[in-house]
Amino acid sequence: MGYFRMRRVIELAALDRPWVGEMFMRKRFAPPIETNAEEWNDHYAGSTYDRLFKSDQRHHHRLLASLVNEHRPHAKVLEIGCGEGAFYASLKAFAPAGYHGVDFSDTGVEAARRRFPSDLQGHPTFAVGDGRTYEPEDKFDAIVFPECIEYLGEPVDLLRRYSSSLHPDGVFGVSMWLNTKPLRIWRKLQASCEILDEAVVAAPWGGAWLVTVCKPPK
Ligand SMILES: C[S@@+](CC[C@H](N)C(=O)[O-])C[C@H]1O[C@@H](n2cnc3c(N)ncnc32)[C@H](O)[C@@H]1O
Repeated sequence: MGYFRMRRVIELAALDRPWVGEMFMRKRFAPPIETNAEEWNDHYAGSTYDRLFKSDQRHHHRLLASLVNEHRPHAKVLEIGCGEGAFYASLKAFAPAGYHGVDFSDTGVEAARRRFPSDLQGHPTFAVGDGRTYEPEDKFDAIVFPECIEYLGEPVDLLRRYSSSLHPDGVFGVSMWLNTKPLRIWRKLQASCEILDEAVVAAPWGGAWLVTVCKPPK
């Protein structure tokens, strides 16, 4: 717990002092996080990530959903890396015009479909797909990456690719666990996109997330 608290002090100090984050970053020169669908299938089959539905784990979902709704009321939303639908659980309170969730874990997608069956209008929908290469068939008012963008490669290239699936004036939404490596991603977004809103959400137990809503990269 003491170590966890010390890391959090470093991460908060790194928010406006990038050099602090770089100095205390673990595995600074290691490649970005590698993951695969089998690993996530195991997590979801073992219920490890049921915790994402706990109230004190969802403050960043609630904030991201409300900011997306503020900028694009009742938006049609695409979520990349939807898992079992924990972000949708917060978004649905805002009566989105539509929602499509995509994840490369078929176990996660099946669980999301069980939790959130489609209504008479056919929403929400969930599909298996790899967010690094997924080609949406539709256009959306908002495309969100809650706790997922860190797995999808170069973030600005990723948003550029997904920009063609946004309606004019569409927005991107991102949330990330507050850590020194995700702060690098946050800075890249700040340097390339017009940021409409950004915040750090902290829970009393010490967990914290970065939340951003931005326009497509220039
Ligand atoms: C920490 S979970 C977040 C789930 C959900 N977005 C949330 O906020 O509750 C990360 C999710 O990203 C998904 N993911 C990771 N890499 C992916 C990829 N290349 N394509 C699609 N989904 C991916 C995982 O399967 C997992 O469901």
